Amino acid sequence: MKHIVRLEEFRKQALKELQEAFQADSLEQWRILYLGSHGEVKALMQQLKDLPPADKPAFGKRANEIKQELTAAFKQRKEEVGEGRPGKKQVVDMTLPGTPVPIGHRHLITQTIEEIAEIFGRMGFNVAYGPEVEDEWHIFDALNMPAAHPARDPLDSFYITDSVILRSETSNVQIRVMESQAPPVRIISPGRVYRPDTVDATHSFMFHQVEGLYVDEGVSMVDLKTCLDQFCKAYFGPTVATRFRPHFFPFTEPSAEVDISCHLCPGDREDCPVCKGSGWIELGGCGMVDPNVLEAVGYDTEKYTGYAFGFGIERMVMRKYNIPDIRLLFENDVRFLRQF
Ligand code: DAH
Repeated sequence: MKHIVRLEEFRKQALKELQEAFQADSLEQWRILYLGSHGEVKALMQQLKDLPPADKPAFGKRANEIKQELTAAFKQRKEEVGEGRPGKKQVVDMTLPGTPVPIGHRHLITQTIEEIAEIFGRMGFNVAYGPEVEDEWHIFDALNMPAAHPARDPLDSFYITDSVILRSETSNVQIRVMESQAPPVRIISPGRVYRPDTVDATHSFMFHQVEGLYVDEGVSMVDLKTCLDQFCKAYFGPTVATRFRPHFFPFTEPSAEVDISCHLCPGDREDCPVCKGSGWIELGGCGMVDPNVLEAVGYDTEKYTGYAFGFGIERMVMRKYNIPDIRLLFENDVRFLRQF
């Protein structure tokens, strides 16, 4: 009886291994192991002569049945697995590596924001965020733009109600940060801004800016120039030159616009598509924080001075990667995005 039990176990094991063979070569290995001329089935048959005579008939009969069953099962499995020939029913090979699922990556703008934060982080700046929907105080009044200021014109900002505005610059975060902490303050604030501009190759109703603010005792224009020059060299490359041009912003005094040198020409090509022959590309604005702004947030203007700046992120990205049209950054065509 125990011999028969052994036979049944043998059968189960053989069939199980057969089902685990998914390819022509593993199937052939199974055939050699079980049905081959020196195989397990043959060995089983040879056991017959050593058995007690009483067990021989039952054992021999069952062993023969199993041999036939395994032979038939092998033929069927071979049909199923095929030899990779078309028209044969294919069996899924669970042991093969899977087909890779395409993995996305962060958008170029997000990558750039992280890179900017990393560079300024090395210079001691923290990252701060603020709301995109803002009240008049934080986006206008506290930034030294009184009620009649032209920047408050609805032609320049999206109004949600008479006093709630979709921010047109990230400068509101300066106010929110200074209201919530005492100096020293050293932050950058990246984020989306909105303007009622007609969309074209260089304009969009939504884009990104990065704001910067440093307030402490004894902060000077030299610190501002050094910081921005260092940043531009770190982001665009060590050969980039920067230049400050006098300008006006309500929240800084004195104010300047920051230009970086053109990467296509030294300023001698009137048809240069990047700088139009001037040799310089405008990056954003900056200046020494107007004492009126410091007063609006309750800072002691006798003790503290500061600088601030605001850059357009799309402009930086387009300059660095030679992207001719801002719309490419928002259409989200993966053939474009995949390149970065
Ligand atoms: N907010 C300005 C703009 O959107 C950029 C800017 C200029 C920000 C000077 C500043 C600054 O903080 O000091 O054009």
